[in-house]
Amino acid sequence: PAPVICIDGPTASGKGTIAAIVAERLGYHLLDSGSLYRITGLAASRAGIELTEANAQAIADLVSSKVITFLPDQQVLLDGDDISLDIRTEQAGMNASQVATFPAVRQALLQVQRNFCRLPGLVGDGRDMGTTIFPDAPLKVYLTASVQCRAERRYKQLISKGLSANMADLIADLEARDARDINRAASPLKPAQDALHWDNSDSTIDEAVQQVLTWWEQ
Ligand code: CDP
Repeated sequence: PAPVICIDGPTASGKGTIAAIVAERLGYHLLDSGSLYRITGLAASRAGIELTEANAQAIADLVSSKVITFLPDQQVLLDGDDISLDIRTEQAGMNASQVATFPAVRQALLQVQRNFCRLPGLVGDGRDMGTTIFPDAPLKVYLTASVQCRAERRYKQLISKGLSANMADLIADLEARDARDINRAASPLKPAQDALHWDNSDSTIDEAVQQVLTWWEQ
């Protein structure tokens, strides 16, 4: 089987950026698992399905029936429609964190995620890569950063994409999302027992990438 590097952590901790660079350096495939929850939330909203627990199975069935295509440069198609920008808004993130609490949705996305594991290897970023999706992965990294840092990072990210953002709202959103990710019953956000921890508050992207690569070589 292909080796997997798991990078888990809370929203806007820098996982996505670090995972993408590590994957590129090693020539590995990349799984941005959060995008699957974002796509699920968007597909349900577009189908007019309210994001409630009562609709969880319908939402899981809907996403299972969709053709999702990942192209280079973070481009994503849903049944052929380019939804790359639509899934990156704050609203899409909140909707993602809502559908991510539904066990039926997590179950529907389980095999989809495991199918990303192909030679020569995979870097997966998310909340439960190390605890649930790839429990046997030889390297699991748990990335954190302070709320202030994460909000600033998310602010820059949204502005650079031409989207609107406001710090107070972002901090409130981050805290709401953390609470939902940590407190849900199904695969809550928590470090795997064998995860190596890295606090990304004061480190540059380069330093974090270097640390992951060093751990990988050991
Ligand atoms: O960019 P950010 O880290 O905020 O979000 P993301 O990684 O795109 O994930 C969006 C939402 O999906 C998160 O708030 C989580 O609630 C959920 N998620 C999850 O439950 N499990 C994963 N493996 C990845 C994301």
